[in-house]
Amino acid sequence: MSIPIRSADRSDLRFLEQMLFEAAFWRPGQTRPAIVSALAEPELAKLLADWGRDGDTGVVAEMGAEPVGAAWYRFWSDDDHSYGYVDASIPEVAIGVVERHRGRGVGTALLEALVESARFEKIPALSLSVERDNPALRLYERIGFEIVGSGGNAWTMLLALESR
Ligand SMILES: CC(C)(COP(=O)(O)OP(=O)(O)OC[C@H]1O[C@@H](n2cnc3c(N)ncnc32)[C@H](O)[C@@H]1OP(=O)(O)O)[C@@H](O)C(=O)NCCC(=O)NCCS
Repeated sequence: MSIPIRSADRSDLRFLEQMLFEAAFWRPGQTRPAIVSALAEPELAKLLADWGRDGDTGVVAEMGAEPVGAAWYRFWSDDDHSYGYVDASIPEVAIGVVERHRGRGVGTALLEALVESARFEKIPALSLSVERDNPALRLYERIGFEIVGSGGNAWTMLLALESR
């Protein structure tokens, strides 16, 4: 199945927030907070604050006119970062696919497109954080991410790109 993928821009912020919520509360059957209050929590709020700043790069998968998934990366600094941070030259990836569209290649297509953008921008590597029991780990390994560290219940993973 070929999945149309386009670049994300500032107008995609609301959808990216929905996908961030999916990524933060991925565990099946867990009790979820309301999305509005979850996104207002500082740890989550900062992840997409000021979306569209220099270096922010994202892709959106669409079926018809409907967005069904998004993946993006952002640069962070030693002083201000999230869980999968490695260093300031390596942006951190986040991804989410609308639940009813999972398991059909959307996530793979999104990550492949994001990696292509990173290579084009001559970015040395991509990193991410994934909880150890999240099945997304297998997807990341298939794309080529490797475990380089851990924090709490999560792995930090790195995909080194050719320009490194
Ligand atoms: C992880 C996610 C983005 C993958 O997108 P997808 O479109 O389902 O991925 P694909 O169909 O391309 O690939 C399937 C792989 O994704 C992973 N996966 C994770 N959750 C899945 C789900 N609910 N259904 C199907 N695959 C899932 C598995 O590795 C699966 O491979 P496997 O069949 O060998 O186990 C998507 O399932 C999702 O949004 N999950 C909830 C949010 C999340 O966990 N984000 C990552 C946080 S680090």
